[in-house]
Amino acid sequence: MSDIALTSAPAHLRHGSSIGQPLTRRDGPLKVTGEARYAADNHPPGMLFAVLAVSTVARGRVLGFDLAAAKGHPGVVEVMTPVNRPPLAGDPDGKESPFAFRMDVLQNDRVRYPQQPVAVVIAETLEAATEGAALLAPRYEAEPARVGLDGAEPFAPKVVGAGNPASARHGDVESGLRAASHRLEATYETPAQYHNAMEPHAIVAAWDGDTLSIDTPSQGMALTQARIAGLFGIPPAGITIRSPFLGGGFGSKGLLNGPQVLGILAARLVGRPVKLVLRREQMYGPVGHRAPTRQTIRMGTDAGGAFTAIANQARTATSTFDDFIEPAADVAHALYATPALLTGHDAVRLDTGTPMFMRAPGEAPGSIALESAVDEMAEACGMDPLAFRLKNYAEVEPSSGRPFSSKALRECYAQGAERFGWSRRPLAPRRMRDEAGLLVGWGMGTAIFPALMFAGHARAVLKADGTGVVETGAHDMGQGAWTALAQIAADGLGLPLDRIEFRSGHSALPDAGLAGGSAHTATAGVAIDRAGADAIAKLAGLATRDRRSPLFGAGNAGVVARDGRLHRRDDEARSEGYADILARAGLGEIEGRGTGAADPAAQAAFAMHAHGAVFAEVKVDPEFGQVRCTRLVGAFAAGRVVNPRMVRSQYKGGMVWGVSFALHEQAVTDGRTGRVMNANLAEYHVPVNADVPSLEAILVHEHDPHVNPLGIKGVGEIAITGTAGAVANAVWHATGVRCRHFPIGLEQLIGV
Ligand code: MOS
Repeated sequence: MSDIALTSAPAHLRHGSSIGQPLTRRDGPLKVTGEARYAADNHPPGMLFAVLAVSTVARGRVLGFDLAAAKGHPGVVEVMTPVNRPPLAGDPDGKESPFAFRMDVLQNDRVRYPQQPVAVVIAETLEAATEGAALLAPRYEAEPARVGLDGAEPFAPKVVGAGNPASARHGDVESGLRAASHRLEATYETPAQYHNAMEPHAIVAAWDGDTLSIDTPSQGMALTQARIAGLFGIPPAGITIRSPFLGGGFGSKGLLNGPQVLGILAARLVGRPVKLVLRREQMYGPVGHRAPTRQTIRMGTDAGGAFTAIANQARTATSTFDDFIEPAADVAHALYATPALLTGHDAVRLDTGTPMFMRAPGEAPGSIALESAVDEMAEACGMDPLAFRLKNYAEVEPSSGRPFSSKALRECYAQGAERFGWSRRPLAPRRMRDEAGLLVGWGMGTAIFPALMFAGHARAVLKADGTGVVETGAHDMGQGAWTALAQIAADGLGLPLDRIEFRSGHSALPDAGLAGGSAHTATAGVAIDRAGADAIAKLAGLATRDRRSPLFGAGNAGVVARDGRLHRRDDEARSEGYADILARAGLGEIEGRGTGAADPAAQAAFAMHAHGAVFAEVKVDPEFGQVRCTRLVGAFAAGRVVNPRMVRSQYKGGMVWGVSFALHEQAVTDGRTGRVMNANLAEYHVPVNADVPSLEAILVHEHDPHVNPLGIKGVGEIAITGTAGAVANAVWHATGVRCRHFPIGLEQLIGV
């Protein structure tokens, strides 16, 4: 049957032309004109404003509030505390799944971390709610805060990240180290970081009886909807989530968080729509962060510079009430060939909000440590860092022995090095100065990120007028999903992009899967492509079985969909337009459905990762220790490129974050109070324009026949990895000083 053959036909047989085009963002004009409506832009009739009162202590109990002062303030409508909070059907401290993180939604008087919500003030205006919250003046019974990686006894978690084993062993590391000619043991520290999306977490919630309507930025509408349903004891179908745009998420908007639930509870309490938006400093507590790490890396090589062993034991921190263990050591599993590999994690429980997935969770802190250690090892072997990496190039995944589904890392090294001018690099440090006398250094790092997929669904409709509609509840957090997925949709239906209506960002549409793990384009994209193929297959069935169609009898040869027409594959001159086929069949439209998910057989057979190579130049003031990253070249291979403009933009964004990781970003915690002291964008440093050097991202060609039917790997997170280490290694090359404590600050380099 032709339709069966076509349903399983690879995408390239539906000769599309949209995939691969460097189109600008379809939502760009909406955003630059201010027309794009973000969650907090919604003001349903009768809406009230809710403001959180948050804890100033890290641990203890709330003894009481000045409720009279807050309630008496003009404009204040209600104050929600544990006493009058509407009941929940589900337990916010329950743990129904590893992704159901415990949350603080006024279930009792306990305080578990600073910035924990302890009350919600609801008022006619934002100002009145803010002033009311200030008047609440909570009284606490406080206990000493447990702070820092030495602040508590470590424990051994069973799993890390999204469920990987906490330790992994392959070969015998101790004998590998004993046999080594060159050895390294070094400890690297990375700080806590906070997501700091431009758009703060926000919700506008409105109840109508037992149905709920919310506007909120979400990287995972279906999971969010399911968790709300469980907590409130209502069916998921009774919950509508609109999330057309996110002003950044970085992992912190992936799962339902406490403040979203408090907004919904506040609307329940007052019986009116309520808007709740976090203030910047309130994002440093209940909505996740990247945990700090301390990684002790041991390595050995033989006399020729080939690894005999790699080990990383990582310490991290989680909260006192939930487990999220930053999987920092695991990045070593897939990168360098070694006969012996050992990774492990332990953690301490601190009085902090629970850490969370944050942009390359595990890989980002793990990579800066591993790539620094690799650079130190190359130095110990007297080898150029690129030659050392090529010497230890993994032809199969070292931890599993599986072949790679594709791996164009050699090409990344070659193209990046060529563009950067790496061959002119002196081997020894402190050999280059600029005209102003600043020390100049060149460093490099390898980038790697797994090619993941979640499960997603899509619906495609061909209409009688020859246009198409494609629906999937995808999430555009600024990465360009609206555009890239529409391009895939156009090719999936064999239509030009301007004849496709792409609908997304709404919970009533088919679940597109979580927008995380750099997996969204692959997951939702394959679902869309399959939905298109399904619709086309049905259309082809109508034509090839109808004697009146020029395609009659083409069943065995198959058909090709292109530009709104089906063509016989064996004779492309014989074709028929979609609209004509539908009209003759008397159909107003024809619908296809598709699912995107990882293929377990392919995953068992192949290791799947995107790769890259990043080259960095820094300049260091030898007197003041000031570091500037002046040049970055990254070359990345991540399978098929759906939209080169947007992929390049993702890489550049990741490279900026890598600079941030190496030189700028850290949350500083007060050792006495447990509070983050720089919970604002003035003192929590992220790179500004002046900190961002000349950036170049090279898209290295890579064809992957195994990773998924579209050959797409993720591009969102990989460029943080590699870049941070490259910058750190360039600092060493400039100064001869190894900085193992990140971010690298003046205090580590002053007077070098
Ligand atoms: Mo995310 S941690 O932005 O996948």
